[in-house]
Amino acid sequence: MTRLYVVTGAASGIGQATCQLLKERGEEVIGVDIHSSEINVDLSNEGGRKDGVAEVILKSDGKIDAVIACAGLANPIAKTVSVNFFGVTQFLEGLLPTLSKSSAPRVSLTSSMASLMPNSPELVEAMLKGDEQSALAIAQGLVDAGDQKAALIYGSTKRALSRWVRRESIKEQWSGAGIPLNAVGPGIVRTPMVADMIDTAESRAAIDVSVPMPLNYYLKPLQVAYLLVWLTSTENTHTTGQTIYIDGGSDAVLRGDNVWDLAK
Ligand SMILES: NC(=O)c1ccc[n+]([C@@H]2O[C@H](COP(=O)([O-])OP(=O)(O)OC[C@H]3O[C@@H](n4cnc5c(N)ncnc54)[C@H](O)[C@@H]3O)[C@@H](O)[C@H]2O)c1
Repeated sequence: MTRLYVVTGAASGIGQATCQLLKERGEEVIGVDIHSSEINVDLSNEGGRKDGVAEVILKSDGKIDAVIACAGLANPIAKTVSVNFFGVTQFLEGLLPTLSKSSAPRVSLTSSMASLMPNSPELVEAMLKGDEQSALAIAQGLVDAGDQKAALIYGSTKRALSRWVRRESIKEQWSGAGIPLNAVGPGIVRTPMVADMIDTAESRAAIDVSVPMPLNYYLKPLQVAYLLVWLTSTENTHTTGQTIYIDGGSDAVLRGDNVWDLAK
């Protein structure tokens, strides 16, 4: 049976490849982005998120089967907090009642390998508290403190997202409603977001130190789309709360086999 998907970040990169894959497989898709999509809204602010939810409800007659959230920014600016964290979490929370009407509702979103990188714990906590104003003020403070501090913003948004997925997934409104909620954690994906970062041998050498990818090197967007789509398919019945790294081995290289230390 055809399923109805909502995909954010539909105009470019991973979101665009995900829309194409779903359509090729005969699914229906409502694309959401700030431009060039079925629904054009700015997910960086509360009004845009609410308008986006309202338009999805209108276009879907109030029932959707899955949401795949890909919209994001990699810029070292405060707005990245609004798009990457609140633009995902508030949008998903707004769509929960609509999702719950499906017989097999699913959600996946796009975290990053960067969730494992240095971050600002204060910023991460502010996001997890749902306090957008404080989070923006902390992020602006990082920007004002110079490039090295500002560079912590992106990783902080992705750490917060992955932690949000883990905590939320087991709550009544997600697990209790039969909704698997997961993230993918890509390594470097060849999209417009990182084009400048990987366009010279020198810049690639620098990236390859922080994101080593011994298995098959950089990804194409479609390769991430396959995983996002599987996580939101009816085949996924029990995977939830996870960030699944699709990173050519970066996580294994950088963290080795010590990821169970917390369970001691
Ligand atoms: N490319 C990579 O190497 C990589 C690695 C790990 C994670 N990611 C994550 O994957 C996701 C997709 O990134 P991509 O590489 O496809 O980038 P991309 O720049 O190609 O696509 C991002 C999309 O998000 C949309 N967007 C940005 N701000 C928005 C806003 N305020 N409202 C609505 N839409 C907005 C853009 O218009 C764009 O279409 C992002 O969350 C990114 O952080 C990317």
